[in-house]
Amino acid sequence: MTSGIKKPAAGTLISFEGIEGCGKSTQIALLAERLRAAGKEVVLSREPGATPLGLELRKILLDPVYSPDSLTELLLYLADRREHCRLVIAPALQRGALVLVDRYVDSTWVYQGFARDEVETSLIERLNRLVVGDFWPQLTFVLDCPADRGLERARQRNLESGVVGVADRFEQRHLDFHSRVRQGFLVLADVAKERFRVIDADREIAMIHNDIWQKLILQDAVS
Ligand code: TMP
Repeated sequence: MTSGIKKPAAGTLISFEGIEGCGKSTQIALLAERLRAAGKEVVLSREPGATPLGLELRKILLDPVYSPDSLTELLLYLADRREHCRLVIAPALQRGALVLVDRYVDSTWVYQGFARDEVETSLIERLNRLVVGDFWPQLTFVLDCPADRGLERARQRNLESGVVGVADRFEQRHLDFHSRVRQGFLVLADVAKERFRVIDADREIAMIHNDIWQKLILQDAVS
């Protein structure tokens, strides 16, 4: 069976991964600003929830009212990804844009697979390939920081945005789970060194940004 989504043309797909509160969104915004200033067409996107159908799925996925099992959750994330790929990523890459995504295929491998150990990661890998076809990331930054530091930042972010006392389903999970998530991203990065760049995210925002920028230049991804 093929994915049915056409091959990318000139564009570049870069994904950002990491535990909750690792600072992905801040770093993606800074990078986009710098790339745009350098004259690049940049498309920012995220999962789950980059399309109208995806937004509905995001609400369901993050609502603490529901407690789907790992397989149901996996299928919902994959449905969101398929829409995202078809409606946002494929068109952007086909016209040659640089696409920066906040979470993608590796989040599913880690959250629904590695960290919970209920669905085989090899199955997730196969389903991911089926869903995205040729739209695999060329480069992936893992923003790495200790789970307790990330969770503290995520809590702080919720307080500042007025979401007092309401953590989403994922933030409610135990510290051990988030430590497994961190470990999962590091395992992936170790296995596919050519695609992954692990960034120490437990530093000043500007230092992290410069680190990402240097690695991007080295990779020639923005030339
Ligand atoms: P966010 O807080 O980075 O927007 O991510 C929302 C949550 O969704 C986060 O806890 C991780 C989770 N997630 C998965 O469990 N599997 C996935 O495939 C994706 C994309 C996200």
